[in-house]
Amino acid sequence: MAVLKSKKLKSIPAEITVPGDKSISHRSAMFAGLAKGTTVIEGFLPSEDCLCTVKAMEALGAIVEPLEEVEGVGLVKLAITGNGMRLKAPSKPVDCGNSGTTIRLISGILSGQDFKTELFGDESLSRRPMKRVADPLSQMGAKITGQGEKICAPLTVEGCELKPIYYKLPVASAQVKSAILLAGLFAPGKTTVVEPVPTRNHTERLFSHFGIKWLREDDCVSVYGGQEPRATDIVVPGDISSAAFWMVAAAATPNAQITLKNVGLNPTRTGVINVLLRMGAHVTSAETHSEGEPRGHVIVRGGELNATVIGGAEIPNVIDELPILAVAAALARGKTLIRDASELRVKETDRIAAVASNLRLMGVTVTEHPDGMEIEGGAKLHGATLPSYGDHRIAMAFLVAGMFAEGTTTLEGAECISTSYPGFERHLDLFLNGGPGGTPIPVMSGIPQTVAEKISRNHQA
Ligand code: S3P
Repeated sequence: MAVLKSKKLKSIPAEITVPGDKSISHRSAMFAGLAKGTTVIEGFLPSEDCLCTVKAMEALGAIVEPLEEVEGVGLVKLAITGNGMRLKAPSKPVDCGNSGTTIRLISGILSGQDFKTELFGDESLSRRPMKRVADPLSQMGAKITGQGEKICAPLTVEGCELKPIYYKLPVASAQVKSAILLAGLFAPGKTTVVEPVPTRNHTERLFSHFGIKWLREDDCVSVYGGQEPRATDIVVPGDISSAAFWMVAAAATPNAQITLKNVGLNPTRTGVINVLLRMGAHVTSAETHSEGEPRGHVIVRGGELNATVIGGAEIPNVIDELPILAVAAALARGKTLIRDASELRVKETDRIAAVASNLRLMGVTVTEHPDGMEIEGGAKLHGATLPSYGDHRIAMAFLVAGMFAEGTTTLEGAECISTSYPGFERHLDLFLNGGPGGTPIPVMSGIPQTVAEKISRNHQA
């Protein structure tokens, strides 16, 4: 088991370029594999999750050619040549690893094929509910079987001639929406998904990029079947969910400043910026590209953070950032409430239970609710030995928490970080041990907020 340690941060690097966006990398590989011809994907995220999607598309007949590797990160540029929407039956069951996006979206694609595929994943993925995709895809005509009531993996997906549906999502999920829309490409007529609240729209934007017509009317997204994606090169922006770890580290450090370069700024993903602004952080973004997937630089200046309420329609927009926002809440003044986020319980681990337990181990008072938690900010954090629960975002969030704790924080099970952030350890090291061009952290920042406040009040008096 890999162990990573964190300690009081020494410096905030002037800039960091995070690796490619996970959601867009998955979808780029899938669309490229469904298109006739060659698509070059640049800025690809070579994390274990996304590589599962590439291997799955390869097993289904796509030809993959590596074009560029970055040391310590992996394959960031590749060419995928597809042969159109009719894929080849794989010779063995397809491994989806830890990846909910792979298994759910590929189930949509496989529903329109004329063969049967077995999909499996690791222990965590095998506990996650697949009924949410099995139900609508079965309504479209596919035969999907899985384990138990929640229809967990291993799954079998037997495709057939699909029929279009009009489907109201019972939970706000971009993965379910995307699985249905991808299946909709194989169904003659109009397939419509109704979203209870808007979710990330990368599938829709990639539809446009690959020449597929779709439409949004109020809360409905529709696509017409019988269209085929057209191979088109794509540049993936950096992942704002990965940048969020460093945004919080800088926001909670007075006098610090960091620039996160080339980050995806799709408004369905920038909720983390809005929450940090509400907490009193100084965050600005400068868009450098607005077409397709908008991207640009995010600049964060450190200061004092205040508590906030995170809930309602903004939850899908910050769903992956809630673990690190919970850490921000622990570093803020006052009590933060996270609600309407019961979806966190069915992620790679139960993220409400995992965050609450790890924060408590560091000395924070947390009250757990079925759909969220209340976090008492401002306590003095102390280092602890913490489990990752096999969940990449829990692991990274608590290594950042360790930067604000007295003593050492030992994170066990750190290997899961490769699920979404190859190169994380190298970036963490810039904060813990300093790097070129960073802002060194003055001694004051090591003093817990309440004491620092007293000192500055005395100073003023
Ligand atoms: C994702 C959607 C979200 C998110 C996941 C990636 C996607 O999941 O948590 O990390 O790429 O569509 P849900 O659709 O289950 O909310």
